Amino acid sequence: MDDLAARHHDAPVDEESRAALAAQDLELRIVANDDADGVVEWLRAMERGFLASEPKEEHTRAVAERIVQRRLAGVFDASGPLPGLPIGTFASWVGELTVPGGGGIPSCAISMVTVAPTHRRRGLLRSMMAGELRVAHELGVPMAMLTVSESTIYGRFGFASAAYSARGRIDTTRVRWTGPATPGRIDFITRERFREVAPDLHDRARRAMPGEIAMPVGHWDRFAGTRPDAEHPERIRALQYTDAAGELQGVALYTVRENEADFPRSKAHLLRLVAATADAYAALWRFVLELDLIGEVEASELAVEEPVFWMIGDRRAATVTVRDHQYLRILDVPAALTARRYAASGSVVLDVTDPFGFAEGRWLLEVDADGTATVSTDIPEGLPVVRLGVAELSAAYLGSVSLATLTAAGRVEATDVFAAARLFAWPVPARLSFWY
Ligand SMILES: CC(C)(COP(=O)(O)OP(=O)(O)OC[C@H]1O[C@@H](n2cnc3c(N)ncnc32)[C@H](O)[C@@H]1OP(=O)(O)O)[C@@H](O)C(=O)NCCC(=O)NCCS
Repeated sequence: MDDLAARHHDAPVDEESRAALAAQDLELRIVANDDADGVVEWLRAMERGFLASEPKEEHTRAVAERIVQRRLAGVFDASGPLPGLPIGTFASWVGELTVPGGGGIPSCAISMVTVAPTHRRRGLLRSMMAGELRVAHELGVPMAMLTVSESTIYGRFGFASAAYSARGRIDTTRVRWTGPATPGRIDFITRERFREVAPDLHDRARRAMPGEIAMPVGHWDRFAGTRPDAEHPERIRALQYTDAAGELQGVALYTVRENEADFPRSKAHLLRLVAATADAYAALWRFVLELDLIGEVEASELAVEEPVFWMIGDRRAATVTVRDHQYLRILDVPAALTARRYAASGSVVLDVTDPFGFAEGRWLLEVDADGTATVSTDIPEGLPVVRLGVAELSAAYLGSVSLATLTAAGRVEATDVFAAARLFAWPVPARLSFWY
């Protein structure tokens, strides 16, 4: 995995995309992470694409130091007045995605995708995306993944939301704790201590949760406000939970906003809760929900079936909004489908179309009694057949959406919809607890 990540990071750009852009007098190239000036320009272009102000030097330096794992592709227009400032940015790195059954699959994470407004809708994103997906595919990376600013952009490239996220607002005046009592203790810690211990806890937690990925290294300082350019880090409170044996099992970060007109109606924002055990989860949530003077707790990137909604006595104390979140795109059908486990056995033929060709073909998926799959192209007669695009297969991959729903929506055709739906279903709902 580390070797694959390194080979992906250092691979040259895709020749087909380079040539297509060169035909428009544009240059596609990789900006080396140790090219300090080049990375600053790349970041300035990326920030502008996401509507941020012109970044200060302290900010770009802090971010640059924290994205060295990322491969930074840029498109440059030498004919403009600022030839060193890219007009297209595209970051990627190979990280581990947890799949149903608890295993991990190397996946190409994509982020920081922008095209300058001066060059929009001329196919730059398409060229970067096709080229970078080809690089990942040729290296044998079986999956690509991203979180999106707009849900309309990436379906055409074969991506679909495979894990959803929930934003919850909990009226704490209605909460009566019905979750388990917990034997450990909660203590305040410094933000620096959170920064130090959270990565290991996240690694323990995310390996049990389909849809979660290894945390990009730079994220921890951003969460904890421990980056030199952090704005108002003093507002962030950090907590830890240690179990009855004194072992650290969870941490959390939150902020509060005082309501001067009505103190007991002040608000808390739970920024992050990382729990490696059910105890730690319950204890940290309970602590935040029972804070004095807090009338509402808000949290985002929760699971759609977040256990806390079943711990608050009054389900309507929580107002929940659900949104598409973790987008996947299968690049290698046999590698992806054999990496996950299945909760039912059976065989189905998948007839897959793919705009870029990577997943295209007729595949026989056979799952044995212990939930292990094999995939082949040797197709016997008489099996149920599912016809679907790679986006629909990717949507169903973690089990978040049933193939029966996608069939009802006209996105999938199946000769035996329940056979196919049963095979892909998974009892643990997928989630992703952050953006990347
Ligand atoms: C999204 C963005 C990168 C698109 O770049 P672009 O170079 O204009 O896109 P392309 O010209 O390559 O378009 C490729 C296809 O995507 C479509 N598309 C592009 N942006 C779209 C959008 N925001 N919504 C819907 N469709 C979009 C195009 O219509 C085109 O469709 P087609 O190939 O089916 O005709 C650019 O608009 C941007 O930087 N937006 C702001 C930052 C952002 O939201 N980035 C995405 C982060 S997840």
